[in-house]
Amino acid sequence: MRNALGAIQSLLVLGGSSDIGAAIAERLVPGGCRRIVLAGRDQEKMERVAERLRGLGAEVAITAWDATDVDGHGDAVKAAWDALPGDGPGDVDAVVLAAGVLGDQEALEDDPAAAAQLAMVNYVGPVSTLLHVRRRLEEQGHGTIVVLSSVAGERIRRSNYVYGSTKAALDAFCQGLGDALQGTGVEVMVVRPGFVHTKMTEGRTAPPLATTPGAVADAVAAGLATGRHTVWVPGTFRWVMSVFRHLPRPLWRRLSARM
Ligand SMILES: NC(=O)c1ccc[n+]([C@@H]2O[C@H](COP(=O)([O-])OP(=O)(O)OC[C@H]3O[C@@H](n4cnc5c(N)ncnc54)[C@H](OP(=O)(O)O)[C@@H]3O)[C@@H](O)[C@H]2O)c1
Repeated sequence: MRNALGAIQSLLVLGGSSDIGAAIAERLVPGGCRRIVLAGRDQEKMERVAERLRGLGAEVAITAWDATDVDGHGDAVKAAWDALPGDGPGDVDAVVLAAGVLGDQEALEDDPAAAAQLAMVNYVGPVSTLLHVRRRLEEQGHGTIVVLSSVAGERIRRSNYVYGSTKAALDAFCQGLGDALQGTGVEVMVVRPGFVHTKMTEGRTAPPLATTPGAVADAVAAGLATGRHTVWVPGTFRWVMSVFRHLPRPLWRRLSARM
């Protein structure tokens, strides 16, 4: 349960080794988030994140979750809830879905199976996982699901349409989920960052409006505090994308060919 000031006290990060997921957890600890579960594939990487969080004063547990293991999602979500540090079973105030793969567009076009696998990680797996999470949060009667979408899903670019389409699908699913949960006490917050300097984008040329995991974390913390349903990072993207979204297709093709 959030504290008397409305701050998140317990957190589950799906994709616990994500740079953005870790930054969000680090940002929430000083505000009172002291019970954290990191769920993901790479125990070693998550242990490094956990050590940083423990250094800030949080209790942290690590559990296994693979976005592609749809049959295991029910058990993985249950295990994450059971692992929440503290006395006895506890509530999870916020669940951050931070798993994702960018992929190389040209390589994906030549490897349909890899493209399908990317869609599995970015969209299919999250659908299954979030439906299990939703059930848990509804049982609690409260909680916020924070989903890392992307501006890449807002208007699809030729240069990364496999990734962009998975984010468009995830974003749409989460909007619907949020609408379906209205009145239950459970909220869904969709976060749409532009280019963020993380290991996902390492070695790529940063475009204008590129940002940092810390800036995403600040925007997420502010969104959680004010009950936002959509968060753009940086905020300017809200206006930029609303223009891009309405550009006629021939113009968008010419413009996005340079992006
Ligand atoms: N960086 C950007 O520019 C940017 C912009 C907009 C949105 N986003 C989104 O923000 C989220 C976090 O990205 P990031 O920048 O923090 O990237 P990151 O540091 O590379 O983190 C990606 C995370 O996804 C996890 N992952 C990959 N495949 C998985 C699977 N099959 N099952 C479970 N977890 C899996 C990785 O786990 P392993 O350690 O096991 O590989 C890692 O924890 C992603 O959804 C991304 O699409 C990023």
